[in-house]
Amino acid sequence: MSAVGVVAAAGSGSRLGADRPKALVELAGRPLVAWAVETLLAGGVDEVVVTVPAAERAAFAAALPGRVQLVEGGATRTASVRAGLAAAGPGADVVLVHDAARPLTPPDVVARVLAALAAGAPAVVPVLPVVDTTVVVDDGGLVADAVPRARLRRVQTPQGFDRATLLAAYAGLPEGVELTDDAAVVRAAGVPVATVDGDERAAKVTVPHDLHLAGLQVAR
Ligand code: CTP
Ligand code: MG
Repeated sequence: MSAVGVVAAAGSGSRLGADRPKALVELAGRPLVAWAVETLLAGGVDEVVVTVPAAERAAFAAALPGRVQLVEGGATRTASVRAGLAAAGPGADVVLVHDAARPLTPPDVVARVLAALAAGAPAVVPVLPVVDTTVVVDDGGLVADAVPRARLRRVQTPQGFDRATLLAAYAGLPEGVELTDDAAVVRAAGVPVATVDGDERAAKVTVPHDLHLAGLQVAR
């Protein structure tokens, strides 16, 4: 089974508010995107495509191994993944789509996703339980309902797919429809999505506090 990784790294990182695109922000001296690419390769992915902001191609090239293919991303994550998929190795059997914003994802998570694909799942996502009481509020901010959390899960990346299945699902998604992750795209096409255990260390860097926590994880 041959696997290609697509790393979504073309976002600006507006909530992080750094002086550069989020994927180029450094964690222990290395850009987040370099951590994310290394995780995919260490976990068993054969080749990697990274979607980058058009104006920053040179900075990404300097930050990544020469074997990594760079493609221009789009205005939304969905558009960026579309661009990455179009460039991702036609020889690959499976595709793993990963966020540059999850720099400390352990390679074990990648390996679990690949194992589920090898076992025949057409789509697979890493998940974690929800540990907080979770409620629905009304327009006035009052608690309207509590959500039983036993069956709720938080979804991480990398998300893995049979390549042909993911390409067909994106091809069938109308332009302009934005979904927050790739599993939602295949589910919209009626494909069952399997789950494997995620990892708290695969947390997404969204706001400055997340980067602070990631820094503590790698501090020695
Ligand atoms: N992403 C992308 N192309 C976009 C927007 C996002 O490739 N047009 C990528 C980001 O680079 C990130 C991942 O999708 O690795 C998850 O998105 P998010 O955490 O929302 O990152 P940003 O969109 O960059 O951050 P923000 O929403 O705070 O601006
Ligand atoms: Mg975003």
